[in-house]
Amino acid sequence: MKLDIDTIGDWKRTNDCGSLRRDDIGRQVVLMGWVNRRRDLGKLIFVDLRDRSGLTQIVFDREVDEISHEKAAILRNEWVIAAKGEVTPRLAGQENPEMPTGDIEVKVNELKILNETRVPPFQVDGKIDALENLRLRYRYLELRRPALLHNLVMRHRIALTIRNFLNRKGFLEVETPVLTKSTPEGARDYLVPSRITKGSFYALPQSPQLFKQLLMMAGFNRYFQIVKCFRDEDLRADRQPEFTQVDLELSFADEGEVMDVVEGMMVDTFSKILGCPVSRPFERIEYERAMDLYGSDKPDMRFGMELVDVSDLLRSSTFRLFTQVIGEGGVVKAIKVKGGASFSRKELDELSSKVTDFGAKGLFWAKVRSDAWQSPLAKFLTPDMTSSVEERLGATEGDLIIFVSDMAQKANKALGLLRIEISKRLDLVKDAGYSFVWVTKFPLLEYDEDKKRYVAVHHPFTAPLEEDILLLAERPEAVKARSYDLVINGEEIGGGSVRIHNIGLQNQVFRALGLEEEEVGEKFGFFLEALEYGAPPHAGIALGFDRLVALMVGAESLRDVIAFPKTQRATCAVTDAPSRVDKDQLAELGLSLLYP
Ligand code: AMO
Repeated sequence: MKLDIDTIGDWKRTNDCGSLRRDDIGRQVVLMGWVNRRRDLGKLIFVDLRDRSGLTQIVFDREVDEISHEKAAILRNEWVIAAKGEVTPRLAGQENPEMPTGDIEVKVNELKILNETRVPPFQVDGKIDALENLRLRYRYLELRRPALLHNLVMRHRIALTIRNFLNRKGFLEVETPVLTKSTPEGARDYLVPSRITKGSFYALPQSPQLFKQLLMMAGFNRYFQIVKCFRDEDLRADRQPEFTQVDLELSFADEGEVMDVVEGMMVDTFSKILGCPVSRPFERIEYERAMDLYGSDKPDMRFGMELVDVSDLLRSSTFRLFTQVIGEGGVVKAIKVKGGASFSRKELDELSSKVTDFGAKGLFWAKVRSDAWQSPLAKFLTPDMTSSVEERLGATEGDLIIFVSDMAQKANKALGLLRIEISKRLDLVKDAGYSFVWVTKFPLLEYDEDKKRYVAVHHPFTAPLEEDILLLAERPEAVKARSYDLVINGEEIGGGSVRIHNIGLQNQVFRALGLEEEEVGEKFGFFLEALEYGAPPHAGIALGFDRLVALMVGAESLRDVIAFPKTQRATCAVTDAPSRVDKDQLAELGLSLLYP
């Protein structure tokens, strides 16, 4: 049969495909959507009709309408159709409790075929999966899949809940420029050449940091924005080059008030969206302690396994490596793996090679047995030593103790990563719910070996702890910041700080950063000037919105919660951006290419 494409004519949809229920039985309806699946039983043809809201089974019965039955026989998956008919109950025993519309079906008496389709490059129903690049190229087809659609519906609902919450709390949403000035926030900027001022560039904002501070100086008191940010950095599962922040700033506020607002927002969002109670106040841990106990500035606190320093207990052992490292100012740190004595030799070898990958020299292990340790270390330690180590770690028979010996920073980092690796292997976080923690008082500055100067750990507008200000000139690395990160389940979801609102202190920080006055003036002159026109004390934070949504829907990658994400190579697979532009466009911008 030659395919006739019908026009929609004066047909109007009466319902979407997810809404019909038992109460609608007897109604005449018009549904429109995509053919999700067709089953041809000869006299009867069943089609699951799909739109954003769900599926409805529609039935073509030769005895009800011969023409539409004949047309239905040629339908293929993903064709677009409109069907008119009566809502009827499904035959007893044919109901589908899995489908919200599973009690009914629509007996079609007229069918319009609105569009056909080329053979899709992969099955939209997802039964056979395709390579990610292909799925990203035809993202609009992949977005027809319920799982991805669900994530985007959740994203919408979470954004709406947050907006409403912040509105209730007196926050004003203000848009800030996207074409702006290159400002330093750590990552590389995306640059946009100016046509009018040739040779000059805008930068896309890495965050609205300076503008939101200017809004505080403007007296806006409480600002927020759900805003796109751009950073030209290497991608990982938890990073996209363009991503979204829930960005906040509050005047006359300190860290406590910012935390209070964010905690309220999390409680509201998690309860409304997931029905999941969240208890407040969130735990707080200072950066230094987080590094010491968890070897990470984003500790996953859903399981214990804290890092324990046993250097003092093993200082006088006969194990050369330990004594040497301790002698050089290093440490021996240990974790206890409950029940880990059952780890095989192979598993221990794997963990050991992980530790080397994580940058430490290696690990040593001990299986705690009733009589003695089964461990390559056993012969170097006295019974007193082993029992005091056991006591400090709370280890008992059947446990495994893992030691890493190195300079503190390296040992903490490696053991911290190992702790996460083991928690995955043992599935320790399954059903553990959400754990919210504030990590506070990060160092203000850190030394950058490449730049040969100090750089800001958060950003240069972060206030130092008042009691540390005097250290700025002499011992910049010892100064702590009034900063805080929100960590959920071991992921950095947000970061913020109390800001400097006084020009003298801001200049002191720039000096500690080793920035020349001229450079500061050129980059931040407008901002320093604003500080001199009555800047109120203020503080703020930004949450990674994509990360928050991914966490709430349980997505592995940020790509699963973004409609049109960038690929691993920072390209847009749908449009093939970035792409070449023609000579005239370049000439208009006054640009020529080094690598044409
Ligand atoms: P920061 O740089 O810590 O702070 O960013 C805040 C949060 O944004 C998220 N995030 C990202 N998400 C996805 N892809 C990325 N490439 C990416 N980079 C960051 C993280 C992070 O915690 N202006 C300050 C905030 C402030 O001080 O108010 C800022 O941008 O979840």
